[in-house]
Amino acid sequence: MDNELRLQYLEAMGIDVWLSRTSIPAASESPTEAVIDHIDLAPSLDNWTLLEAEVANCQKCTLCTTRKNTVFGSGNQQADWMIVGEGPGQHEDEQGLPFVGNAGGLLTEMLRAISLTREDVFIANIIKCRPPNNRDPHADEIAHCSDYLYRQHQLIQPKMILALGRIAAQTLLKTNEPLAKLRGKVHTFNNSPVVVAYHPAYLLRFLPEKSKAWVDLSFALQTFTKLEGDL
Ligand code: URA
Repeated sequence: MDNELRLQYLEAMGIDVWLSRTSIPAASESPTEAVIDHIDLAPSLDNWTLLEAEVANCQKCTLCTTRKNTVFGSGNQQADWMIVGEGPGQHEDEQGLPFVGNAGGLLTEMLRAISLTREDVFIANIIKCRPPNNRDPHADEIAHCSDYLYRQHQLIQPKMILALGRIAAQTLLKTNEPLAKLRGKVHTFNNSPVVVAYHPAYLLRFLPEKSKAWVDLSFALQTFTKLEGDL
């Protein structure tokens, strides 16, 4: 990240940048260059914090004009499991947290079914801002946002990704295959295994499909256990 941008994030987070006496720029130097040469930022700010601030200030697409809050994600930054949904709905937009509405309640139950809590995993979405009226995200919105998810994944390095629903699965796997064809297989995203499951919001709408959630979760858990055993 360039230094000027880094300074903007620091400012947005209310962090003061101090200059050592020796860093006062010579008349010939650009003030920004001289300052950045001498400040000691690295020890106090990790990449995660910077990424969070970058998302919070993001204006790469028009969703920034309608959102109340960005939804960065929540949970354990050292998680073995990363859960990836589609994007924030109304409640998530209001609270700035992922999966806090009805679908979130079901997700918590789904995780419990495989002995995980929300604190064990990291939960993120493909896009970080709510599309108006909960419409599907547009391709350009996904494209602008996907770098954030990629970087979250790089920092967490999960041992397993559970992709919830068509948009999450197709985006991570760069495919147009229907969800039904993607379930029950182990895919890969940036070196992590990916298992696909029905989205909890879909399961709430089509209750008879709920049993399929158990099939997907059991497959994900089996895959995780097997990969752990192979290590
Ligand atoms: N649906 C999602 O895909 N993500 C959320 O955070 C909430 C609902």
